[in-house]
Amino acid sequence: MIYENILVEYQDQIAVITINRPKALNALNSVTIQELTDSFNELAGDANIRTIILTGSGEKAFVAGADIAEMSDKSPIEARHFSQLGHKLMNLIEALPQPVIAAVNGFALGGGLELAMACDIRLASTNAKFGQPEVGLGILAGFGGTQRLPRLVGSGRASELLFTTDLIDAQEAFRMGLANHVYPKEELLGQAVAMAKKISSKAPIAIQLTKSAIVKGENLDLLSGQGYEAEVFAQTFSTEDQKNGCKAFLEKRTTDYQGR
Ligand code: HXC
Repeated sequence: MIYENILVEYQDQIAVITINRPKALNALNSVTIQELTDSFNELAGDANIRTIILTGSGEKAFVAGADIAEMSDKSPIEARHFSQLGHKLMNLIEALPQPVIAAVNGFALGGGLELAMACDIRLASTNAKFGQPEVGLGILAGFGGTQRLPRLVGSGRASELLFTTDLIDAQEAFRMGLANHVYPKEELLGQAVAMAKKISSKAPIAIQLTKSAIVKGENLDLLSGQGYEAEVFAQTFSTEDQKNGCKAFLEKRTTDYQGR
């Protein structure tokens, strides 16, 4: 598919999606949100792709937020639709069979941070900056930020970021658990690909079910989460990969997982 504002590239079993509006610091307008939704939907059905990397183009930004120019004149009804369009994309990322790694290569602000938070893993470059500036614009973090940020970093730190609009650097994001690792800018994508390769070498169905247990578990009490975990654990025992994987260990050899 040809897109206006995103690029999709393939490296073996990895897809790299690059948000490509560098002149607007990759701000999310409706077209970009829809294109991301379409590309993720397409990748969801592609069994050859085992891990997805999401990044931004240009020197400065991952995503500097929702597109303020497009958003500014919306009516309350249009604003609700826009928020819901974002939610649909973020929830789709969480529901994908493949893990998604955000390679945060610069500003991840507002909707950009919300997008990164919907990904499973966040890697940051040393120049990355994270923040939720929305209340400084008279709006709020309407792509899931009020919900995902407290879940990720706790409500005290989330409230501070959401109320003060202070930006934090990559090291601070790392300390909060918002970024898994911090790398020099020129190493970020290579490190993301290395992690994606590692993930792609494991059993895809087991990874998919693990992801779904993590995502589901965020919204469940421990016992219900364990109930779900037992179900998906059982499901792995109806896969060839489980038979081959366990057998390979016992026979002291490796195996190539087929995703069945
Ligand atoms: C539209 C944006 C933009 C955005 C930057 N640009 N962010 N356009 N929406 N979110 C545009 C600028 O207007 C400018 O265009 C060009 O990108 C370069 O930006 P500069 O400001 O000149 O760059 P710089 O001085 O380096 O400052 C970088 C920045 C700043 C600190 C990131 O651009 C900034 O504060 N951006 C807005 C960040 C923000 O408030 N994000 C939250 C948005 S609300 P021109 O044409 O002048 O060159 C949101 C809500 C989500 O995300 C929920 C919705 C439901």
